Amino acid sequence: MTNLPPKHIAIVMDGNGRWAKQIGLSRLEGHRAGVDAAQDIVDYCVEIGIPYLTLFAFSSENWKRPKEEVVGLMNLMREYLSKDSSKLVEKGIRVRTIGSLEKLPKLLQSTIQSLCEKTKDCKRLNLTVALAYGSRAEIAEAVKHVSSDVLAGKVALSDISENLVGNYLQTRELPDPDLFIRTGGEKRLSNFLLWQLSYTELCMTDKYWPDFNRNDLKSAIADYQNRERRFGQSS
Ligand code: IPE
Ligand code: IPE
Ligand code: MG
Repeated sequence: MTNLPPKHIAIVMDGNGRWAKQIGLSRLEGHRAGVDAAQDIVDYCVEIGIPYLTLFAFSSENWKRPKEEVVGLMNLMREYLSKDSSKLVEKGIRVRTIGSLEKLPKLLQSTIQSLCEKTKDCKRLNLTVALAYGSRAEIAEAVKHVSSDVLAGKVALSDISENLVGNYLQTRELPDPDLFIRTGGEKRLSNFLLWQLSYTELCMTDKYWPDFNRNDLKSAIADYQNRERRFGQSS
């Protein structure tokens, strides 16, 4: 093995709709099965000691889906995030979110706020849920914020560096992902963590998200550990 286990795994949980369709269920039932799969992967990450896990749950482009599906997804997320906060604390899971939270229903916003607050001292797993998240919007927001700090004289032009830009992103408290996983067969990033994934190892699988299990994650981690990460250097 060349690498230590990944510190940070980022996952695009794709394929819920197709999973449901192939067995004659509704898309929403697919999303429900997706939540179950996510819960088990979160628990597994705690068990094997992965310190950072980021899950793409809803993209800024997903607002374009039929209203019924969007509303169903929002309700599902509120259900998941509002139950068992004491269990999350017991397991040592700190929850954060990234994305345009102000665009979410008010009730979901307050559920998120209270969960992040309740779990803020947990240290075993840093779970970040990307909700109403789009990487380009995140970067544009950071540019706006840096510019306003320059105009206000808080930042000098010569201070602008990769490190400084990273500190204006919503992921500022997280290390860059080491391993990226996308289920559902597509080979694209779909506007997820464009800046942060610059040197992340990519792993795509055809399995639909509700079928993705602990063994699949274990194999993805083993595959990652056998890769040579060169970061531009020669081997
Ligand atoms: C991923 O599954 C979940 C979200 C994007 C919210 P999809 O709903 O995209 O499932 P497919 O890709 O249509 O199968
Ligand atoms: C990416 O999946 C977003 C999430 C998994 C939340 P999509 O299903 O929205 O991506 P595209 O439309 O196939 O690129
Ligand atoms: Mg999809």
